[in-house]
This record gives sequence, structure tokens and C-alpha cells, in this order.
Amino acid sequence: MSGKNPAIAKKTWSNRWTFMLAAAGSAIGLGNIWKFPYITGEYGGGAFVLIYLICIAVMGIPLLMAETAIGRNTRLSPLNGIKKLTGELGVSRLWQVIGWMGMLSGFLILSFYSVIAGWSLSYAWDLLTGVFHGMNPARVSGEFSGLMASAPRQIMWHTAFMLITLFITARGIHKGLEKGLQVMMPALFLLLLIMLGYSMLETGQFMRGLDFMFSIDFSRLTAAAIPAALGQAFFTLSLGMCALMAYGAYMPSSNSIARTAFSVAILDTIMAVISGLVVFPIVFAYGLEPGSGPGLLFVSLTAAFANMPMGEWFGFLFFVLVGLAALSSAISLVEPVVAWMTERVNISRTMATVLVSVAVWLVGLGTVFSFSGDFEVRFFDKNFFELVDFLTSSILLPLGGMLIAIFAGWIMKRSMIMNELALSIGLFNLWRAMTRQLFP
Ligand code: PHE
Repeated sequence: MSGKNPAIAKKTWSNRWTFMLAAAGSAIGLGNIWKFPYITGEYGGGAFVLIYLICIAVMGIPLLMAETAIGRNTRLSPLNGIKKLTGELGVSRLWQVIGWMGMLSGFLILSFYSVIAGWSLSYAWDLLTGVFHGMNPARVSGEFSGLMASAPRQIMWHTAFMLITLFITARGIHKGLEKGLQVMMPALFLLLLIMLGYSMLETGQFMRGLDFMFSIDFSRLTAAAIPAALGQAFFTLSLGMCALMAYGAYMPSSNSIARTAFSVAILDTIMAVISGLVVFPIVFAYGLEPGSGPGLLFVSLTAAFANMPMGEWFGFLFFVLVGLAALSSAISLVEPVVAWMTERVNISRTMATVLVSVAVWLVGLGTVFSFSGDFEVRFFDKNFFELVDFLTSSILLPLGGMLIAIFAGWIMKRSMIMNELALSIGLFNLWRAMTRQLFP
């Protein structure tokens, strides 16, 4: 089992900021820049944002703390960590299902995440090379359909994205993850701020964007908005699939879990809100529809880039930003599996990463073919991509999150968690009440 390789057990991030960088990198991704604006658009704006914020505060933050605390307590990959805890606590080994489900979710999410990240790389390239220059929205939409219809083009970019992910992951947590994150995260902030500056100063629609996102009109809220807001809160904070548990295993004991969890949740929320404030004013300025769904970035926003002054440069920067955000999340999606494989079968990290990446790449082809129409099989009336998306966001992540909360709140010894969280007794009781009651 686990104890085999002591070098793994003792590995920690090199300084106290790295966990925060890594967790924020994991959290901030396509969920913030691509999904948050379009579902906010679909669900009508402010009221949806309010529910989403409540979900982040009351469920997201406590769960984020729970995952990190479990990881740091065991200092092992999620599966082996939970296995070790069930032994220590003398409880059923069935709890290991948390680790298995986590690895499966990460694997499945990455398979489609990589395809969509690939689209943004493709867009960055096309904007840079002037493909979209001066196109009207109808032609931009045609370009998007063209990319969707072409399996080879999507496969090429999906492959490129997986290769970069593989490269960073294989180099290990210090030379790969840390180094990569130290470059990616500041770049991400800078690019987003440039885009925000543009949307504030140049679109003339910034106030309308603000108003759309923050004026709360409950009459526009539908019942479906609540599970959607909850699912989005889990997805965006990378919860329910043990990514932060895997990162928590490398967190130095001196770091404060609570403070870090708050900061990560706040950073993630700020990035989502800023993304909305970048996207909506541009969409309004060009008379486009905020509720146009997953195509919001790839059709509406791109139509705007195609026509604004220096739009190609801004568009290029924007899609590089999307790609970087996706990359810093992708490395956390494979970490639970890769860490487990190196502990378990004692193969090198490089070998483990290659095996996992090839498998993820292959499953990703299912998503490519469901967009290109080459793979028409339908399961429960969903195509392959919709099925994987539904299975992960609506079933595996919420279920995983619930099991983790029950495990941390009811199964683990109070003192174990208390030591890790190091909170005042009042706050600790609040945390415990939230994980024990709210999730089940
Ligand atoms: N949080 C990431 C995003 O918002 C997605 C993700 C989910 C990453 C689960 C890791 C684990 O895009």
C-alpha cells in the first residue's frame, strides 16, 4: 500500500503560497470564463448570481476546507489516504469509493475539458492569423460550426492541449506544477485585467453589464436555476472529485486551511464576476444575445472581436487566457490518478502521466465525435459529450462532495479534523454543523 515510498509521503509545496496558487489555479478555469457567463446569461442574470454566491459561501467553503484537511491529514493520494483513514478509524473500507469516484470524475471531466480548451487554442490561433477579420456574426457562427464539424481539427487541438498538460504533470509537483503555476497565474490575472480595462473604457456598455449581473429580479428565476447554481458552485471550486485533497496532501502543516479556503473561494468568485463583466458589455455593445448558451464565447464574443479596433489582438489574448485557465485546472484533474498510480504500482511519475493522458485523450475522442456528428450513439437521449458532462457535473461531483462532507463531519474523529483546521471552537462548531447537516 501507501507507506512503500516515504519520499512521496513527505513531499510538500516549496512555500506557503503555493497551495493557494495551485488551488486557485485548479478552481479558476473554463467554469469561470466560459461556463459562468453563459449560464448567468441563460438564467437571467442577478438573481442567479445571488444563489450561486450563497452556494459558494455555505457549501463551497466548508467542503473546500474538508477536502484540504483530509488530504493534509493523510499526506497521500486521495484513494490511499481514505484507505489509510478507514483503517485507522476502523470503519468500512467502502468509503474508498470517494477516492475511486474522484479519480473517475477527474478523468472524465478532463476528457471533454481538453476538447473545449482545444477550441480556445484554435480560436487564439485563428484570431492571430486574421481568419475572423471583419466577419459578421453569421459568418463567425459558420466558422464555429465548421470547427465543430471537423473532427481532425478538433483532434489536433485536443492533442496539443493534452500534450502540454502531460508535459507539466510529468515534471512533477515542483518543476512542473509549481513552476508552471508561477507563470500561468500572474499571466492570467494580467490578461483578465487588460480585458476588463477594455470592456470598461471602450465598449460604452459597462454599466449595462453591471446592471445585468447584479440587479436582482426574482421573476426571471426558474426552478432549474437552483441545481444549476449549486452544480456550478461545485464545479467552479473543483469540489467533489478530490483534486484539492490531492493538492492538500502537499500543503505544509503551518498553512491555515481556513484562511486559504476563503481566499481561494474569493479569488475564484472574483475571476468569474470579472469574466462576466468582460463578456457582457462586449456582447451588449455589438447587439448580441447574452443568453446564447455554450456558444457565447465562441460565437457572440468572437463576432465582437472580429469587428472591434485591434479586436484580433484582444481576441487572441482572451483565448490564450482561456487556454491558460484551463491548463491550470487540467493539471489538478489528473493529479489524484497520477499520484495514486505512483504510490500504488511504483511506476515513475512520467510513465503514470503518459498512461493516464493517453487514456484521457482516447475518451476525449468520444466528445470530439459527438460534436462532429461522427458518433451518433445516444444514451438516455444524450450524446456522448452531454452524457459525460451530465454524469460528472450533476451526479459524480455532488455525490462525491456529499460523501466527503459526511466522511469529514461524521466519520472522522473530531480531534483529527480540529487539528488540521485549527479554528477557534466557535468557528469549528459552525464548520462541523455545516458539513454535518447541510450536505446530507
Ligand atoms: N474548477 C474548474 C473550472 O472552473 C474545473 C474543475 C473541476 C477542475 C473539478 C478540477 C476539478 O473550470
